Amino acid sequence: MSDPNTREGFASKIGFIFAAAGSAIGLGNIWRFPWLAGANGGAAFLIIYLGIVILVGVTMFMGEVTLGRYAQRSNVGAFKKVAPGWTWVGAMGLLAGFLILSYYSVVGGWVIYYFVRAIAGFNMTDPSLTGQLFESFITHPLLPLIFHALFMGMTIWICYNGVQGGIEKYSNIMMPALFAILIILAIRSLTLPGAAEGLRFYLVPDFSKITGKTFLDALGQVFFSLSLGMGSILTYGSYLSKKENIPQVSTIVPIMDTLIAFTAGLIIFPAVFNYGFEPAAGPGLTFVTLPAVFSEMPLGNLFGGAFFLLLFLAALTSAISLLEPLTAYMMEEHGWERKRATVILGSIMFVIGIGASLSMGVWSSFKIAGLVFFDQLDWVANNLLLPLGGMFTAIVVAWVWGTKNALQEATNDGTLKFGLGDFWANVMLKYVSPALVAILFLTGIGILKV
Ligand code: PHE
Repeated sequence: MSDPNTREGFASKIGFIFAAAGSAIGLGNIWRFPWLAGANGGAAFLIIYLGIVILVGVTMFMGEVTLGRYAQRSNVGAFKKVAPGWTWVGAMGLLAGFLILSYYSVVGGWVIYYFVRAIAGFNMTDPSLTGQLFESFITHPLLPLIFHALFMGMTIWICYNGVQGGIEKYSNIMMPALFAILIILAIRSLTLPGAAEGLRFYLVPDFSKITGKTFLDALGQVFFSLSLGMGSILTYGSYLSKKENIPQVSTIVPIMDTLIAFTAGLIIFPAVFNYGFEPAAGPGLTFVTLPAVFSEMPLGNLFGGAFFLLLFLAALTSAISLLEPLTAYMMEEHGWERKRATVILGSIMFVIGIGASLSMGVWSSFKIAGLVFFDQLDWVANNLLLPLGGMFTAIVVAWVWGTKNALQEATNDGTLKFGLGDFWANVMLKYVSPALVAILFLTGIGILKV
């Protein structure tokens, strides 16, 4: 076990905010959120999403940061410290991180490849051509693996350099760059002559599209997007200095995450509609429709390059937060050295990711419940492990460790004013958010009917 006195931590509050926002802001925001909202009733979906962010997201985010900072331990160790019978919740989170990074890195590799292609110019204004390009790339047995290796290598490299020298340092560079690119692209897109039609598609509420499944999709998206339920935020919380204001930082990061997801839609849909394309749902929107859009757009290779760079920065800062909890666990609980932990863990996930990548092509006939390996990893992590992990984390913090202890930590032993503290701990964390997650979860797996 590591000595808490020499335990690494973030040097500054802004370091924590950039790192945690980096974790939260990822492929989930820029690629997944826009099409989910577009396909699920536009503003109607947005309202539901916002409601869940406020009711469940912020509450649980704060819960994880509080537990981590109190325990000064990462995932499993924190549970061991406050609720010894519940360490399996932490272990489940580690498993989720393991599964997610394995395929997340494959997509990260696609993004690098598309960045290079975009700079070179796609020169394909027909989506059936960009569709073929995407198909032939992801089903290729070798090419995506090279980029998967590159992406995983960069992820390992950052974690390898430690909390301050790696995660904080690179987040402090990458996140401002991400914001700058985002703003430039949003201005470009919103000033296109046909922007209004895209905004209509994205934002006009269509309540007829709202079903029980919409709530579930929104819940899953909140968990995934805020990196909740698997210990990333808990681990980063354990690196937050004892003097910082937990309620404040735990509100800022979900707001940033939500704003960025929203803005991603403002970039994508005006451009798609301006050039007369149909927005594809799913990965096709980013990898099939947008390359055609960038082929039409003047200076499209510049804007296309900027877009995939944005996606790359978002993905990489999330990937490091997937590797870090496992790394910290091996260091704290098994006495491994950081360098060894990052290289070994990252390599194992690389190997699992090979399976995910090949399941797009040569192994695509191997299916369980109709899902290829890539989608199985995604389904188990996002539909099972994250909601369950989040729900049990809230239960452990509020019921086992106790809301009194949680409040004490969240208010820096009562020295900080936290007006809604009681409400947060005794209402939201204790009852509302675990109950909501339970209902939505049971609905999602089909046990409860709506
Ligand atoms: N929040 C990241 C995204 O939106 C994904 C992620 C999930 C990262 C869980 C860490 C932990 O892409």
